[in-house]
Amino acid sequence: MIKLGVLASGRGSNFQSIIDSIDRGALDAEIACLVTDNRSAYAIERARLHKIPHVYINPAGYASRDIFYRDIADELQFCGVELVVLAGFMRVVKKPLIDAFPMRIMNIHPALLPSFKGLNAQKQALDYGVRIAGCTVHFVDEGVDSGPIILQEAVPVFSDDTEESLSARILESEHRIYPLAIKLFIEGKLRVTGNIVKIGD
Ligand code: GRF
Repeated sequence: MIKLGVLASGRGSNFQSIIDSIDRGALDAEIACLVTDNRSAYAIERARLHKIPHVYINPAGYASRDIFYRDIADELQFCGVELVVLAGFMRVVKKPLIDAFPMRIMNIHPALLPSFKGLNAQKQALDYGVRIAGCTVHFVDEGVDSGPIILQEAVPVFSDDTEESLSARILESEHRIYPLAIKLFIEGKLRVTGNIVKIGD
């Protein structure tokens, strides 16, 4: 059974969707560790409720980002993590962590990449006036919301949408495709060549 390490900074609803998928037998995985950079992240409460080991790593305690990420990588490796899942981790991951888990770190972004990278992606989509929005699961490289795309799901944008209503619609998709992408990884169905992910046996 594969061991997952989840990194989260806040609410943790994607973390919860992964917990739920495991609990109902849809994902053959174990969450070995939750790492957060925010002492008051609600994700910690979710970990407690489900008896998932969790650790808070205080970014303020580090002289450099590289050492911060080296420590996170050490923690994940210590827990035997094989796939790192970023679930609302509000930081750009740096080289020491990426090098420790090459093509073994996934992220979910609430937009159809490569559109609307960075913060407030749903607001960016509304402000641009797109008719279709969505979310993307991708492998993490050193860029911001770049890296090979694994799965995407589109949702409609309605004329009376607010940032909240669109975000809620996208979040439903997120909770569907993140566990699915992890399942594909576990089953060995993801082949990465350059920036392209092929899905197959
Ligand atoms: C999600 O919208 C995700 O796409 C983005 O951050 C948000 C995290 O939400 N990366 P949650 O903490 O998983 O509820």
